[in-house]
Amino acid sequence: MKYSRIAGTGSCLPSKVLTNKDLEKIVDTDDKWIVERTGIKERRILGEGENITGLAEVATKRALEAANMVPNDIDLILLATTTPDRTFPSNAVLLQERLGIAECPAFDIAAACAGFNYGLVLADNFIRVGQAKNVLVLGAEALSRIVDWTDRSTCILFGDGVGAVIFSESDEPGIVCSKISAAGKYKDLLYAPTGLGPDAELSPKIAMAGSAVFKVAVNTLGKAVLDVLEKSGMEKSDIDWLVPHQANLRIIQAVAKKLDLTMDKVIITLDKQGNTSSASVPLALDQAIREGKIKRGDNILLESFGGGFTWGSAIIRY
Ligand code: ACO
Repeated sequence: MKYSRIAGTGSCLPSKVLTNKDLEKIVDTDDKWIVERTGIKERRILGEGENITGLAEVATKRALEAANMVPNDIDLILLATTTPDRTFPSNAVLLQERLGIAECPAFDIAAACAGFNYGLVLADNFIRVGQAKNVLVLGAEALSRIVDWTDRSTCILFGDGVGAVIFSESDEPGIVCSKISAAGKYKDLLYAPTGLGPDAELSPKIAMAGSAVFKVAVNTLGKAVLDVLEKSGMEKSDIDWLVPHQANLRIIQAVAKKLDLTMDKVIITLDKQGNTSSASVPLALDQAIREGKIKRGDNILLESFGGGFTWGSAIIRY
């Protein structure tokens, strides 16, 4: 029986820091409101000359170093994004070229903020059926490109960054259990139009019904984490760390409560990074591993939720 386990992680944030104080100069908001309602203090956004492919290259090289691998050890690239550098070729292919990998399957995943969880499930399946041995999964986002900088209810939330994880074939799990899902009936609560075709009249910027999204996110994620726990046969007390999607501190607190976890067992990066969509989980995972919080053998629960709605949850033994 084949399993997949994390061989290495890496991440990269853009250079430009945008604080709540900076946002006070752009829209009618204040630091106190943003911190109280979201937990976010600052976020990173792409600076001059920076792009997704460049950040993804750095994040991947860090993951390869951690895994003691070279680029040609990778035999599949899955890159979750809603903001690729080009519509096509996919950002996964742009990254492949940058890494100097001559050939391997590579494609992007469009599942909004849940994209990394979708990638994790795909990687696990490719490895289990023997079609890949080392799968590079990234969450790579530049939300600053599609944020409406005049809309105070959304522009305060988002940030840019890339997280990368290499999953490798193993005799032991690894990915213990995972679940992904989507419900298109919520498509109009959170979306970014293309500005083309049926969306030709719409501005291609993020639109969100914040408090409606908040309520569905709390309920859906609460159920998603308990579902995956039940499926794994584990108890709440077996979970060492929650690595949640970093959308809102209040949503994260509600999910932690469902798992009877105290907040010192929850990895938080949104104070410094904001919501980086599909990049938020792998960014938080990499940070916690590099800080020495998450150690080999620990059980981690990952969850994410985003436009669609899409969502996912997984339990991983690191
Ligand atoms: N500064 C000051 N006041 C503000 C701001 C701001 N930046 N934004 C909104 N307000 C005001 C509103 O205008 C409103 O004023 P009113 O009562 O006079 O009308 C008041 O604050 C309350 O607004 P709400 O939208 O009800 O505020 P809420 O407490 O719901 O917080 C927030 C808003 C932070 C957006 C929250 O709803 C949220 O986090 N939603 C979920 C986000 C999420 O999980 N997204 C999913 C993932 S993202 C993705 O997939 C891309």
